[in-house]
Amino acid sequence: MSVKGVVLHGGFGTRLRPLTHTGPKQLIKVAGKPVSQWVLEDLRDAGVKDIAVILGELGPDRVIEYYGDGSWLGVNLTYIYQGYPYGLAHAVYLVKSFVGDEPFIVYLGDNVLAEGISEHTKRFLESDLDALILLSQVPDPRKFGVAQFDDKGRLVKLVEKPKEPPSNFALVGVYFFRPPHIFKAIEAIKPSWRGELEITDAIQKLIDWRLKVGYSIVKGWWKDTGTPEDIIEVNRLLLDHKYPMSIVKGRVEQGSLVEGRVYIDEGAVIEGRAVIRGPAYIGKNTIIKDGSYIGPYTSIGDNCIIQDVEIENSVIMDNVVIEGNGLRIVDSLIGSSTRIKRRSSRPSGHRLIVGENTLIEL
Ligand code: TTP
Repeated sequence: MSVKGVVLHGGFGTRLRPLTHTGPKQLIKVAGKPVSQWVLEDLRDAGVKDIAVILGELGPDRVIEYYGDGSWLGVNLTYIYQGYPYGLAHAVYLVKSFVGDEPFIVYLGDNVLAEGISEHTKRFLESDLDALILLSQVPDPRKFGVAQFDDKGRLVKLVEKPKEPPSNFALVGVYFFRPPHIFKAIEAIKPSWRGELEITDAIQKLIDWRLKVGYSIVKGWWKDTGTPEDIIEVNRLLLDHKYPMSIVKGRVEQGSLVEGRVYIDEGAVIEGRAVIRGPAYIGKNTIIKDGSYIGPYTSIGDNCIIQDVEIENSVIMDNVVIEGNGLRIVDSLIGSSTRIKRRSSRPSGHRLIVGENTLIEL
């Protein structure tokens, strides 16, 4: 018996507006890949081949266009349309016939885990658990689902976004289920105060029905990428974790300076006296022109032209053109096909959260 995967790619992503006016947040590229590609690769690396991608109302066609049938990633994708985000449990219910009687893994398309899920998948498949959840210890669990244990360390309760958290263990966005109980549990729950069918309520039903619900604690970092700050932070984490050494496929011209860990993709050119100080990622066919400084923890997408600008700790997506005139950009997130042009050359710093197809003149 194999295990199937489910990636939740819907939702509204309101906290990531304006970027999510034009497409789903899971397609935002960090450290060279959309967040949901890191997710799909985790599933693939854990041995999952058949994966359903749940699509929402925001740019579902973009998701299909980017991933296609999934064969280029070594997986086999099936698209299921959810539309309006009625909640995680609602999205999970949509895969009932896709999974049949096989165990399956639900992975939120905007969550990133340092260590992947291979170990947890193995543990789940070797067990007879009806559900396995992953937990991560966080300093402030109030914005997550939180686990409550009894004095023997047994999981007794899950509380969604509690004002007074019963523990510091937050529910990570990866869930392992064996049919059929989870579907029965979803049928038994009612929408929460925010009008969503909550997956925590469904898992709580499994606990209340005395079914076998296990938990594992994740070892490395876990990041839920709901806000621009989260995207900038996960970019830092991924640049540190996934690119342990420099890879230069593009061309670094004489006179420019490249130091630290960098990934410079095919066709990219570092021109003139440009400086790249890693960790940094420079996408395909991007040109970093003379007078530019790309500082630590910056990712630049494909086909960008970056001229006379200092950029640090930022995520710049594809097809962006910046004519900086000495501009300094820090802690920023800039959507694709945006053009930023600075006319004056007074020294100043700018912090920018910019959607797609924008023109900014400073
Ligand atoms: P959230 O981050 O909780 O919801 P959201 O995407 O609507 O964001 P915001 O709060 O900023 O408006 O969703 C977690 C993940 O699950 C995310 O990858 C989107 C996905 N999702 C669905 O696919 N369907 C749903 O019904 C919901 C609620 C979320």
